[in-house]
Amino acid sequence: MKNGAGPRGPGVLVIEPMGNAGRFLVEAADRLGVRLYAATHKDVHEGYPQWLRAALAGVCATDLTDAPRALGDMEAFCRQYGIAGVAPCFELFTPLAALLADRIGLPGNDPRLARAARNKIEMGEAFAAAGVPAPRWAVAHDAEEAYRVARTHGLGWPLVVKPAEQGGSWGVSVVDGEDGQDGRDGPEAREVPERLAAAVAAARRFTHAHPHGLELDTRVLLQEYIPGGEYSCDTVVAGGVAYPLPVVAKDTTEGRYRIEIGHTCPSGLPAPLVRKVQHLAARAALAVGVRNGIAHTEVKIPPGTETPYVIETGARLPGDNLCEVVEAATGVSEAVAQLQAVLGRLPDTLPSRTAAASIRFLLPERGGVLRRVFIPDLPGTRAEVHLPPGTSVPEPADSSCRIGHVVARAETADQARGSAERAAARSRVEMG
Ligand SMILES: Nc1ncnc2c1ncn2[C@@H]1O[C@H](COP(=O)(O)OP(=O)(O)OP(=O)(O)O)[C@@H](O)[C@H]1O
Ligand SMILES: [Mg+2]
Repeated sequence: MKNGAGPRGPGVLVIEPMGNAGRFLVEAADRLGVRLYAATHKDVHEGYPQWLRAALAGVCATDLTDAPRALGDMEAFCRQYGIAGVAPCFELFTPLAALLADRIGLPGNDPRLARAARNKIEMGEAFAAAGVPAPRWAVAHDAEEAYRVARTHGLGWPLVVKPAEQGGSWGVSVVDGEDGQDGRDGPEAREVPERLAAAVAAARRFTHAHPHGLELDTRVLLQEYIPGGEYSCDTVVAGGVAYPLPVVAKDTTEGRYRIEIGHTCPSGLPAPLVRKVQHLAARAALAVGVRNGIAHTEVKIPPGTETPYVIETGARLPGDNLCEVVEAATGVSEAVAQLQAVLGRLPDTLPSRTAAASIRFLLPERGGVLRRVFIPDLPGTRAEVHLPPGTSVPEPADSSCRIGHVVARAETADQARGSAERAAARSRVEMG
């Protein structure tokens, strides 16, 4: 399949550019004069928006759920089109990108560790092997085992229950014990097994990932709950050398479901703690084998401490329009830096400005049919609605319920967060 000519320049094969980061890779390729190619399934390609189709110099249509076949097809494609770099974009296919780059001798990530960036159980093992501070964890195959493990492994309460392989907070639950205690005694104790069983069922709900139908590991991860503020920090790695990017503060919902509702850059953390988070994010990226590319790492810092813990890392650009937020605040294009890294070049990661930006997502109060959305047009803000009226929106349990977002730019983080919050507070989401 071939869609358009594209600029002359080195070619980069993006393994599944659909999703939030794809548009930033398209812009970055344009700036760098890189020809962008996509590897995807032909049915998924049919659903690409027009701007994405038009931006691609060509498409390798394959079955990404069949690794041997996909690797064979992509290798032949790379040789035919003289591809000079492979960029993973869709988290679940980051192992394929590492294997492909290794096979054709292009700069990529460590193929032996590749699955650790996709599977949170292997990620936990990789963090432990590298001494990266992370929540303690255990694995369960069903609700009974989860209850047994919860009572015997000393992970404490609340307990985080999540799928081994997913994203977007899908199937992630924070399960309370009884009054925050060990879950065994007291009037609410009998509800603990039920809550845990519901959380395990939610984590195991999807056996295949949308939209390719990739089979998922349905084991469930039980994790110690890390309290405190949440941050993310991306790391570009080129030739095995880590280049830290800015730290971003994250806001999530409270309670059973933790949905990301906003991000602000800069983070507001004091400089020494920013350095610690950047250092830890780089260690996490290297621990899961990132050698030439980018990683998105999420950390939490317990209150009253200066010790960040890694919640997870992915060998891909961030979602949630974080590329826009980070570039608005610092002038650094993460997508440009990723393309440079996968092409074996030195990445541009030095900030060129000291401004601030914040994004706020609009969530419905409950699931239902979306009737109408109104987002006020406040100065310094830009809004986007994700879903058209008439869309059936699920209950707010993960990021698929987001209706739209507002990005605010300002001189300081407080101002940016303030205007994004004001615009969100004055927005109206009507559900039927
Ligand atoms: N061990 C933990 N301790 C405290 N909070 C946690 C823990 N694990 C997950 N969370 C909360 O749940 C959210 C989602 O979890 P996680 O990042 O592991 O899932 P995900 O589906 O990969 O998320 P996403 O793709 O949205 O980043 C986290 O952002 C955090 O707020
Ligand atoms: Mg996460």
